[in-house]
Amino acid sequence: MTTTVPESPYQSYVYAYPHKTAYRPLPERPELAGLWRGEKQDALSLYLHVPFCEVRCGFCNLFTRIGSPEGLTTAYLDALERQAGQVREALSADARFALAAFGGGTPTYLTAAELERLCDIAEHRMGADLRSIPLSVEASPDTATADRLRVLAERGTTRLSLGVQSFLDEEARSAVRPQKRAAVEAALGRVRDAGFPVLNIDLIYGIDGQTVVSWIKSLDAALTWQPEELYLYPLYVRPLTGLGRHAATGSTAGWDAQRLALYRAGRDHLLANGYQQVSMRMFRRAGAASASAGEYACQTDGMVGLGCGARSYTSKLHYSFDYAVDAREVRRIIDDFVAAPDFSRAELGWEMTGEETRRRHLVQSLLQGEGVDLAAYRERFGSTPEQDFPVELAEFAARGWLADDARRLLLTPEGLAWSDAIGPRLFSAGVRARMAEYSPK
Ligand SMILES: C[S@@+](CC[C@H](N)C(=O)[O-])C[C@H]1O[C@@H](n2cnc3c(N)ncnc32)[C@H](O)[C@@H]1O
Ligand code: SF4
Repeated sequence: MTTTVPESPYQSYVYAYPHKTAYRPLPERPELAGLWRGEKQDALSLYLHVPFCEVRCGFCNLFTRIGSPEGLTTAYLDALERQAGQVREALSADARFALAAFGGGTPTYLTAAELERLCDIAEHRMGADLRSIPLSVEASPDTATADRLRVLAERGTTRLSLGVQSFLDEEARSAVRPQKRAAVEAALGRVRDAGFPVLNIDLIYGIDGQTVVSWIKSLDAALTWQPEELYLYPLYVRPLTGLGRHAATGSTAGWDAQRLALYRAGRDHLLANGYQQVSMRMFRRAGAASASAGEYACQTDGMVGLGCGARSYTSKLHYSFDYAVDAREVRRIIDDFVAAPDFSRAELGWEMTGEETRRRHLVQSLLQGEGVDLAAYRERFGSTPEQDFPVELAEFAARGWLADDARRLLLTPEGLAWSDAIGPRLFSAGVRARMAEYSPK
């Protein structure tokens, strides 16, 4: 007798396509100046990666290290500054940034003075006018100190994203996130006092021991602060993370059911409390200021990433430096970055063909609540998504994931709930093969 294992709705969080695990060393190490020549550069996005944290949370597989030996953050900023100088030279003289973000890791691991320097690098080396464009910064409660927040507010931060994960101390402990609710509440008070137009709070569901009742308690604690945005992340346990090293193997059916039930409860609770759903994870308070892309169009405008974990996108190549999760590998890569004299070439990447560009367009639009604008798709590609992806879309329709709409290709509420199973279905065979070959380090 054969038993069929139910498919998991939680396959992977597809926030960019292709995933970095598909990138491979570029043997010819192309010069950035050549890669950017002829590219549209009037509304670029700038991303600065800060790969430091005070702790390593059990669930986290981001490219970051715990703490920094004496002098390392200064050396890292020195390297960022050198990189910024070389990258700026590779861009056209009239290149303009329309959007900026500092991510991590935890950018607020840096001191207030170091954050000033980070802003100076973005402004004076790269030419991003931070006070006139949307600037988003990630922070953790313990590092969101008044002096750092003051610098960030003063330099033009429009969105401060605070990682909370859970307001319940026992759930934070269970997710291996050393954190107390009192510290979270105090940090939220400081963030509100600093006056950022948009506060985002990150929460996680699917933590061991979490129930619908405890999840709603966390959501209500967040709602007290009336955040303009909330990100609800389903927990993933990934290789080489603290939780991953101790995870039981076998069927995840029970856990999937828990996550789906918590997703639905959380979504319904936020919709009933005046929030709109922007994507599976993202909710925005109705009428709240949007700190989103501004003029930057994620489908067609380029991204310039600085720092060792950052990616950059031109229309023909996505590229980045090496990255890792394992602590020793992370330290090695950061040390190499800090010592590198030359940042004028792309090291790792993925070439974007016409087919990959269509896949990226579909992934980045379909998984948003607004879906794919069919007229814009036709204008860009001269075709329809049904012509380009008949097999994939027929399956989505058969599963009840596609809504009936003449002008947009839209997910149904059930489709949105299955976003993390839909995204991977849109990967090309080439990307899949590369990702399958990748071994986590
Ligand atoms: C860069 S962190 C946020 C800022 C800061 N480092 C912090 O932790 O407070 C990005 C967010 O991704 C989410 N996240 C990271 N790994 C996750 C995982 N394995 N499962 C679910 N959510 C995850 C967390 O909600 C986290 O706040
Ligand atoms: S969740 Fe945030 S604080 Fe925790 S290790 Fe990841 S990046 Fe660092």
